[in-house]
Amino acid sequence: MHYMISLFMILLLLGCGSEAKKEEYNGRILLEEKCALCHNLKMPPDTYENEKAPPMMAVVFHLKDFMKINNNQDKTEKFIPFIQEYVIHPSKEKSYCDEESLRSYGVMPSQKGNVTQEELKAIAEYMYTFYDQQVYLQEMQAKAAFDALPKGEQLVRKSGCLNCHAVEKDKVGPSFENIAKSHTKNIIEVIQNGSQGKWKKFNNMMMPAFKDKFSKEELNILKEWIDDLGKIESPKPWKVKS
Ligand code: HEC
Ligand code: HEC
Repeated sequence: MHYMISLFMILLLLGCGSEAKKEEYNGRILLEEKCALCHNLKMPPDTYENEKAPPMMAVVFHLKDFMKINNNQDKTEKFIPFIQEYVIHPSKEKSYCDEESLRSYGVMPSQKGNVTQEELKAIAEYMYTFYDQQVYLQEMQAKAAFDALPKGEQLVRKSGCLNCHAVEKDKVGPSFENIAKSHTKNIIEVIQNGSQGKWKKFNNMMMPAFKDKFSKEELNILKEWIDDLGKIESPKPWKVKS
């Protein structure tokens, strides 16, 4: 009986020991630590002068195209091994960078000693997933759609107003349409200082103060946007979903 218990305990301890040895690598953090010195990591990247290296988004999109990386198998068999090899043994011949970029950046200095193969595996995994053309396209489209909205609607969306308000339907607070129709005179003041108890229907729910959150100009834009909702009958030009 004793024997059984101690064997069990030993197995348990061994189990824990080997678990602790297996390190968890975080690709994002490693990428920032080891690669951000030269590569711009943002998606899309900021543009600035005297770049030391191509932005990481460009690197990954380029590699995916040229190496025909389309799925997880390609990632495991081609993408990760290429990164693991190139970062340690970079060369003009192996680089997929075009001649002109190679001339302006120079070949990447070997990162031997700065990064291990296991770390590179985690970095490459992260690069493959994060720099995704499809996601990028969707983000760009969403951004273009947002930029095309009236400024007032942009502010309303960005500032959390839609947690409590919608255009047509009452939610936690009155719909913007009803606010517009009520001809509230002091919209700007309300946004700055909040409001409570004025609209009986909303059970004394509080409209929080947004003091200092908006510039004078933004407050005017918000007021005009709300006022306009009361003026226009159908078809309704706004795009905010209830
Ligand atoms: C000291 C600056 C520097 C650091 C640090 C650096 N790179 Fe680079 N890297 C470059 C330059 C310059 C190029 C462009 C020339 C080339 O392709 O070699 C490049 C190109 C690349 C390429 C593209 C190769 C190709 O065929 O197009 C990959 C992949 C890459 N780097 C990965 C990494 C990773 C991953 C890290 C971090 C572990 C890293 N780099 C850190 C400077 C750097
Ligand atoms: C946490 C919920 C909440 C948020 C967030 C919120 N509101 Fe309100 N809002 C309310 C409530 C509740 C009322 C009704 C208050 C009352 O009865 O006095 C209200 C009322 C209003 C009124 C009408 C006030 C009046 O005097 O008739 C305006 C205008 C308004 N909100 C604009 C905004 C704008 C713009 C934003 C975003 C910057 C915003 N609200 C964010 C809950 C909210």
